[in-house]
Amino acid sequence: MQEKKFKRTLVTSALPYANGPVHIGHLAGVYVPADIYVRYLRLKGEEVLFIGGSDEHGVPVTIRARKEGITVQEVVDRYHYLIKQSFADFGISFDVYSRTTSKIHHKFAADFFRKLYDEGKFIEQTTAQFYDEETKEFLTDRYIRGECPRCHSLGAYGDQCEKCGATLSPEELINPYNAINGNPLVKKVTKHWYLPLNEHEGWLRKWILDEHQEWRPNVYGQCKSWLDGGLQPRAVTRDLDWGIPVPIEGAEGKVLYVWFDAPIGYISNTKELCDAEPEKYGPWQKWWQDEETRLVHFIGKDNIVFHCIVFPAMLKAHGDYILPDNVPSNEFLNLEGDKISTSRNWAIWLNEYLVDMPGKQDVLRYVLTANAPETKDNDFTWRDYQARNNNELVAIFGNFINRAMKLTEKYFEGKVPACGELTDYDRQTLDDFKDVKARVEALLDDFKFRDAQKEAMELARIGNKYLADTEPWKIAKTDMERVKTILNLSLQISANLAIVFEPFLPFSAEKLRKMLGMETFEWSQLGRTDLLAEGHQLGESVLLFEKLEDKDIQPQLDRLARIKEENEKVALAEAEKNWRPEPIKEIIPFDDFERLDIRTATVLDVKPVKKSDKLLEFTLDDGTGQPRTILSGIAQHYPDPQVLVGKQVLFVANFAPKVMKHIASNGMILSAVDFDGSLHVVTNEAKVKNGSKVC
Ligand code: 2FM
Ligand code: ZN
Repeated sequence: MQEKKFKRTLVTSALPYANGPVHIGHLAGVYVPADIYVRYLRLKGEEVLFIGGSDEHGVPVTIRARKEGITVQEVVDRYHYLIKQSFADFGISFDVYSRTTSKIHHKFAADFFRKLYDEGKFIEQTTAQFYDEETKEFLTDRYIRGECPRCHSLGAYGDQCEKCGATLSPEELINPYNAINGNPLVKKVTKHWYLPLNEHEGWLRKWILDEHQEWRPNVYGQCKSWLDGGLQPRAVTRDLDWGIPVPIEGAEGKVLYVWFDAPIGYISNTKELCDAEPEKYGPWQKWWQDEETRLVHFIGKDNIVFHCIVFPAMLKAHGDYILPDNVPSNEFLNLEGDKISTSRNWAIWLNEYLVDMPGKQDVLRYVLTANAPETKDNDFTWRDYQARNNNELVAIFGNFINRAMKLTEKYFEGKVPACGELTDYDRQTLDDFKDVKARVEALLDDFKFRDAQKEAMELARIGNKYLADTEPWKIAKTDMERVKTILNLSLQISANLAIVFEPFLPFSAEKLRKMLGMETFEWSQLGRTDLLAEGHQLGESVLLFEKLEDKDIQPQLDRLARIKEENEKVALAEAEKNWRPEPIKEIIPFDDFERLDIRTATVLDVKPVKKSDKLLEFTLDDGTGQPRTILSGIAQHYPDPQVLVGKQVLFVANFAPKVMKHIASNGMILSAVDFDGSLHVVTNEAKVKNGSKVC
């Protein structure tokens, strides 16, 4: 809940890396919620600024440049403008959208660093780090690969092995190499400046854990676990040739760490805006250095530590700044059940979406908010998109507006009819919607955008039900006075919808206001039934939303299916390349081997076990004259198990019997595991007598 002490709100949204276009995950996680919030505050008449911009430093942009064979500047130029355009297309209403390569930002961030340096707020440390002697560059975490010390697969990353899931540090990798070019790495000493976060732990604990218990549980919980784990000094400089040069002597070839300069971008972008129009926005310091400003950062969950711990520590060390009042962070949005991934092209890119679905910005905004990953990861599917469009936007919201408009056109030449005497049912309907303002407001103040949109939709539901129940098209034959009242109320509800949906669906709300001929509108008018005066001429009615057929969605599903197939091929090739035999187990004496009784047998029959995805039931001729039953968990690897009938296989005959799915299994059939995890039954090269010993 917003407290009285604040006069104005400064809203920032994470600066996306300018190394690729933005996708639905960005929109759902950060920009749509931030935009809803800002539009809501503006509609309430509050003083608010909304800051955005591109994050143009760091390693990701340099890698993109190398991959594409162009300069880093070309990469950031290309994507900065593309991203900026996408945000504009989706109605993300930034007051400023600038970039961290701007001159203003470079100077501002360098000055910020210099002040902390001059005041002794950093510590200097010299450490040995991985270095590529050919490209003459130091590498960290994700850019270092090597053999996993746990599972020995090749290609594990410096921070994690994707094969076995182990969390690693680059030091642990066997034979580390440069992830980009494969060059072997050596250790080389280098000096860097560190922000001693450990010295900030005391006040951070009190500030977050005691004073900000209202933060979302996911944010609070992540901060608590960082703080409980103990904070360590963090390097704020890097050995790189792309970024903001460290502004001190003896630091040639070093730049500010991207996570040091990017959040300062929020401040320098504010400065850029305020300096350009001081009479409109006032001095930038008003927004960053005045206790009466409320600072709110909208971010994704991978940014929590930087916005709740590192950046506040930087601001505190500087001394002149306010700290964030809230950091509403979302979890992640998945796409059709899989993690969104830029490198695997598993995403819906905003620029492409608009080519395929022109004019449907609000449909996407609606679906992403309805499914917002506010408390847990969530999934976007095209089927859900289609269903929400057809069943909610078209069938409820659009249908109600269309009927109210069309009936008014038909009976009253598009002029708002007078409201006569109210029936009990009218009063009950009004009762249902009069507190919509309070309900939506409480949810928005609490950053619960998903529920807030649901409440707004509830208003459309109320309107739709009212028209369906009162059936003015039938009454028109007998009681025109009654029709006037019904349509007057329906149009008042429509006007309320045009206000309440402005933060969520700005394009449709605007269309609706145009239809209704509403020139001015404010949040404070919500819940009123006198928004459209008797005799007021409505504009032309147009459809707010259009039904989506299966054929409209199918190309999207086909595209994702193609990408999935390509990705699977690439992953398989990568797995094959990185595969290595597991290390040989501990040496055992011959006697231990002798205890195993391995024999040959011919498969007489094999069938899937009922109610099990994994098990196959084998019937074997083991030479004893009695059929032997063995269950084996390889069903997924043999879609047609009959191919095994007649094959001579190897099995462990003295394995303790085991009952599974009410079937007794006597032994174990030997299979080999391939690099991709597939299992293949081991067969005998020449057919021998069944029951022969394998030695
Ligand atoms: O995670 C990211 O995409 C970062 N570029 C976010 C930076 S937010 C802020 F600090 F600028
Ligand atoms: Zn591993």
